[in-house]
Amino acid sequence: MCGIIGYVGDEPALPILRTGLENLEYRGYDSVGVSLRGDEGIRLFKQAGRIKDLVLPDDETTVGIGHTRWSTHGEPTDANAHPHTDCGGDVAVVHNGIIENYDTLREELERDGHTFTSETDTEVVPHLVEERLAAGDDLPTAVTRVLDRLEGTFALGVVAVDFDGIVAARQDSPLVVGHGETGSFIASDVTAFLEHSREVTYVEDGDVAVLTRTGVEITNDGEVVDRPRDHVEWEAEAAEKSGYEHYMLKEIHEQPTALRQTLSGRIDELAGKVDLDLELPKEYLNSLDEVTFVACGTSYHAGMYAARLVETLADVRASAEIASEYEFDGGRDPWRTLVIPVTQSGETADTLSALRRAKRAGARSLAVTNTLGSTVTREADDTVFIRAGPEIGVAATKTFVSQVATLALLTVSLARARGVMSTTRSIEFLSNVRKLPGAVQQVLDAEQAIREAAEEHADDEAFFFIGRKLGYPVALEGALKLKEIAYVHAEGFAAGELKHGPLALVTPESSVLAVLSEGANPKATLNNVKEVESRGAPVLGCTSIEDAEKFLDVSFEVPELGVLSPLIANVCFQLFAYHVAKRKGRSIDKPRNLAKSVTVE
Ligand code: G6P
Repeated sequence: MCGIIGYVGDEPALPILRTGLENLEYRGYDSVGVSLRGDEGIRLFKQAGRIKDLVLPDDETTVGIGHTRWSTHGEPTDANAHPHTDCGGDVAVVHNGIIENYDTLREELERDGHTFTSETDTEVVPHLVEERLAAGDDLPTAVTRVLDRLEGTFALGVVAVDFDGIVAARQDSPLVVGHGETGSFIASDVTAFLEHSREVTYVEDGDVAVLTRTGVEITNDGEVVDRPRDHVEWEAEAAEKSGYEHYMLKEIHEQPTALRQTLSGRIDELAGKVDLDLELPKEYLNSLDEVTFVACGTSYHAGMYAARLVETLADVRASAEIASEYEFDGGRDPWRTLVIPVTQSGETADTLSALRRAKRAGARSLAVTNTLGSTVTREADDTVFIRAGPEIGVAATKTFVSQVATLALLTVSLARARGVMSTTRSIEFLSNVRKLPGAVQQVLDAEQAIREAAEEHADDEAFFFIGRKLGYPVALEGALKLKEIAYVHAEGFAAGELKHGPLALVTPESSVLAVLSEGANPKATLNNVKEVESRGAPVLGCTSIEDAEKFLDVSFEVPELGVLSPLIANVCFQLFAYHVAKRKGRSIDKPRNLAKSVTVE
């Protein structure tokens, strides 16, 4: 996830771009850059690091674009920082999103003599625009035509020597146009230009916006379209959170987008194949006896989810281990054990230390992380990025769903490499993976009912989360979220274990939250629901099965996605935790005693 901004008008562009990028840093801040378009042609200022470190001249140029980066393709280096340019430096582009077919386009452009200077997917865009300009198109036409060649998600801002303005385009990545008194703006989010303009137009998929000194024209498929103007009422602080009261709520709602980014360009559904760009050889994956996920906190729960997927679908022994407890022992064969550290930050000391123990024993490793350039990526043999975008709230939400989605893809890679998953089975599974963003959206659309239930039960004495199979890690994660941000007594149990002890804790003042979806053995869990009900406890259930609501005080519907349904149920638990914490007036984004990245053992 990155942030883009652009300005055309009467004022010097640089101060506007600088403040805009500072306001967009919540979208990523590992590298930054701006391009100015004026009498001296296109000038470029970019580097790894943050906007505060970028040295910019005193300059009066009035057209410019800027970018703050959260790396997905290529490390955060000066060369990979945006804007990217064509060979002659006559076109500059900023981009948020992922160009899925950049490999093919890059090969084609290189064959035609284009020289590339970065490892990014974005760089194909200025070269494609350059080709169209050379063929005689003006910039708006060139960009419109280039869009037909791009697959993936993007919000683009383009400037060129021969065009006194900016051309912007959008497909599945946010883009908003601002109409100010002294000029026009584009940005990933209104925060970027709120102090200059509150009149905005939200650009739609397939739209091309042309910003010149006379105003803004938007076209779609070459036809001029009339998009409404909105007036933004928010204050700057709320705007950073796109109007959400907390980053956590914003990040919960960003999950469909995060998932799209996670999956983008990785699935060939027709062939039932997954491409995670793994360096570990297929023969090695085929020879494995065991896969061990090592992780902490929420990432540990993602590892538990994945371990069950790997065992059932890839037919190899798999387990998740709490990183701080992990030892490489028990007679494991290091040559046949793959260790997978799962870590959002890539910096968790316990997880790094577990990885080092595994490496010392001779095992190979594959890191699964959100953070390019993090320590885990340097120490593991191979890395897969979850591409969820930056997460600011201390309690992990969107990164959990992106971790599990990434690990679900890894499971298919493993299963296919080992020859234990048929093409038909894989197509069916991947079709459910593809439906994840929409299914999560369905739960988000039902937030009101979850909020009401959370507010009603906010003062309960305790909360018990139960689930079986893939519902078990989700029960643990549901309880962890509530502990972290609401500071209440919450426990997750394997539903079958209730009767072996925890049932003694259940009273009419303790709510029980159950995962009753496919993939979580819902019929058996319903028996446990009856056990707690007969002790007077209110039961709230996330369910994808018919008639379950008869046994529940409150039911939340979860779309049916086979073994991925419990992952969707987790979104209900995130919202439940959020609204309990809000009711209790907790410090939701920065809960007491906790840190986002724990770099001590
Ligand atoms: C901290 C955070 C948790 C997180 C855990 C693991 O405890 O507060 O939210 O799940 O670290 O972090 P990682 O970056 O390794 O996923």
